[in-house]
Amino acid sequence: MNVLVIGSGGREHAICRTFGKSSGVTRLFCANGNAGVAQVAECVPIKPDDILALADFATQNAIDLTFVGGETSLALGIVDEFESRGLRIIGPCKEAAQLEASKSFAKDFMARHGVPTAKFTTSHSPAFAILELESGDFGDENSPVVVKADGLAAGKGVVVAKNRAEAVAAINDMASLVGTAAAEKIVLEECMFGREVSLLMFADGEDIALMPPTRDHKRIGEGDTGPNTGGMGTITDASLLTTDELQTIIDTMIRPTLHGCVREGFRFRGILFLGIMMTAQGPKLLEYNVRFGDPETQAILVRLETDLVDICEAMLDGTLGSIDIKWKLGSSACVVLASEGYPSKPRTGDMISGLENVSNVEVFHSGTALSEPPAGAGGSTQPQFITAGGRVLGVTATGDDLATALSTAYSAASKISFDGMQYRRDIGK
Ligand SMILES: Nc1ncnc2c1ncn2[C@@H]1O[C@H](COP(=O)(O)OP(=O)(O)OP(=O)(O)O)[C@@H](O)[C@H]1O
Ligand SMILES: [Mg+2]
Repeated sequence: MNVLVIGSGGREHAICRTFGKSSGVTRLFCANGNAGVAQVAECVPIKPDDILALADFATQNAIDLTFVGGETSLALGIVDEFESRGLRIIGPCKEAAQLEASKSFAKDFMARHGVPTAKFTTSHSPAFAILELESGDFGDENSPVVVKADGLAAGKGVVVAKNRAEAVAAINDMASLVGTAAAEKIVLEECMFGREVSLLMFADGEDIALMPPTRDHKRIGEGDTGPNTGGMGTITDASLLTTDELQTIIDTMIRPTLHGCVREGFRFRGILFLGIMMTAQGPKLLEYNVRFGDPETQAILVRLETDLVDICEAMLDGTLGSIDIKWKLGSSACVVLASEGYPSKPRTGDMISGLENVSNVEVFHSGTALSEPPAGAGGSTQPQFITAGGRVLGVTATGDDLATALSTAYSAASKISFDGMQYRRDIGK
């Protein structure tokens, strides 16, 4: 089987490594990959938003299975395009991808199907959003409120404002921050409090198979301080959700969501990601994502024991309910090593050393490149990686318990270095 993975980050490196372990895979391609991905897959220089070129590539190279990493291609309708050409692809259709691509679509959907979530309203202009705030529906001028751009904004479209003045500023700044298209509508939400957990699942349109629950750490600084990032680390651990909490989430969120899709005439096939806040009133849904997360994927896939090709086949054939997906018992942790200046101004081009010294971990590459060998250098066999992005590497370990997974990941991280390297020492705490 020839497999194509779409994307270029640590998530896609983890997906490619997992496909690389499958006996069913003959050739593995990644569009467009990175220097780490290039060690396990053939990288193809096609961007995720060029869905016609991706479909042409899949046809010309007899790709039997395509796996979409990120939301951009999904929101553009890559799945509809591939399926219209008879190509097999994992991901939701364009309509289902709206659950992530439009916050207002997602919130209306949750409301229609009784999924517990924060109270919200959608405004079609900044001025109307400010009027909504002044109406008092979201508390007084001292109340926290959450301001969201409707469209995809690569994690930059959400501001948790401490009070009305901050919310007004966020509303006024949103278009310049995320672009006018993504900020065409503004969603205001009541601010919820509690611990967050992410629950991902494989879905075949009817059945789902849950993955281990995960938690990520979004802020750059220890103790959840400083600006937001793409994610500085993740863990998977059974303690994140009790059996009762999990059952409540299945009953109040997952079942209504799947039924809702069917009732609205589309099918959700692919990876569904629930961002959940465990509030004093029970679990409430923060958001849907319609794909794997980065770096959640790294921590999840190191525990997957079942062949990913078999799971993909089951998703495509609608037989997810009849396969038994096995996960390595215990826990896992992914610690992200980021470059100097991340997230505002990441510096690139620093030599990465120590990769050959680590053991018992998987190191997934996010932003790396290969350095040009110096002129006249005799062919060294070790590739010399340099930093090429904000998040550089995801050092990922499993363990019988969380403490073991964390200490294995941190011990490996301490052996890797590059100038300006920064990482959080409190992942999983
Ligand atoms: N109603 C809310 N109350 C409190 N915090 C919130 C609320 N909505 C969002 N947040 C916070 O903002 C974060 C990002 O929100 P959300 O998940 O909707 O945005 P996103 O940009 O789609 O995120 P991602 O990049 O993870 O997909 C949440 O993880 C949560 O910490
Ligand atoms: Mg999201």
